[in-house]
Amino acid sequence: MPLPRLGGIRIAGTGMALPSRQVSNADIAQTVDTTAEWIEQRTGIKSRFISPAGQTTRELAVAAARQALANAGMTPSELDLVIVATMTPDMACPSTAALVVAELGAVPAGALDISVACSGFVYGMNHAAALIASGFYKTILVIGAETMSRITNFEDRRTCILFGDAASCVILTSKGAVPGQGCLHQSMNSDGRAWQELYLPTCDAHLPAGPNSTFNGKLGTLQMNGQEVFKFAVTTTQKAIEEALAASGVNVSELAMIVPHQSNFRILDLIRTRLELKPEQVYVNIDRYGNTSAASVGLCLHELMETKRLKQGDLVLFAAIGGGMAWTTSLWRL
Ligand code: UT7
Repeated sequence: MPLPRLGGIRIAGTGMALPSRQVSNADIAQTVDTTAEWIEQRTGIKSRFISPAGQTTRELAVAAARQALANAGMTPSELDLVIVATMTPDMACPSTAALVVAELGAVPAGALDISVACSGFVYGMNHAAALIASGFYKTILVIGAETMSRITNFEDRRTCILFGDAASCVILTSKGAVPGQGCLHQSMNSDGRAWQELYLPTCDAHLPAGPNSTFNGKLGTLQMNGQEVFKFAVTTTQKAIEEALAASGVNVSELAMIVPHQSNFRILDLIRTRLELKPEQVYVNIDRYGNTSAASVGLCLHELMETKRLKQGDLVLFAAIGGGMAWTTSLWRL
């Protein structure tokens, strides 16, 4: 049985938060040229949650963090560092993490935002694992939080059907952990040459030159070449998972669960088929939340922990891909 390279780290608690308004496919079909059936068939999404005007990423992040602290039986003062993964920060400065630390009452914990789009939660877990293994930090709160509705053009049917708002989080700690628990393998990669497949321009200078631009006409909103991202997601995620398993000497049949970024059900199903995984080995909840970018992997983790589908000793592989393009894996023994 392979031992964790970054051992002695456990999940102390998880949390999640959603805006109060649930938006169905039928609701979306009233505002843009699409149908509820098209959205469900092409993406697996049935509904998503959308924040009311003025609700910020910080608010959702704090609500999720409070739940995780309660689940962990920890106080905010036990947090050494808070990492917030988001592409919809409240402000560029200060970091959303600093606002979360202050609102939680966790001062003087360190605070750091990371910007890796949909890969943010898993990148955050990887950073936290390495920092805890260094011995300088005992307990780190990793949050993935997004108000994607702030950066969505609701007149662009190619993107507005996909995204939802949410926050999720995990508290990772060395306190009370045994050496066999922790991160067996991790990878963080990017290919910025393909940035124009998924990007958020805020001025004309950001727009790619040439006839292939997918620009939807509205600066400050997400631009996406859906077909290219789809292909990239399937091939790159499959390869990254195979590399993680090979590097750690773990067979795919030993995995209790793969927790992938919830981008599109068809992407997840193709990856599952290619890796010859059983349906119950790949967690899917995109039907209820849509693609929540940095929040999605943590939403899955929280549901898996709450429903006790994961138990101590299980092998779990987290995998994500998104804008950047950036992709990442993280293999854990719980
Ligand atoms: O988190 C990581 C970031 N994002 C992703 O992972 C997304 C990856 N991509 C996707 O999920 C899919 O590409 C989409 C769901 C965005 C689109 O699905 P698709 O099956 O790739 O559709 P398509 O772009 O190939 O378009 C097929 C047709 C086109 O019509 P024509 O040219 O065949 O007449 C589109 O104009 O569907 C049309 N279409 C729509 N029709 C109804 C595109 N969007 C819609 C829509 N409703 N919302």
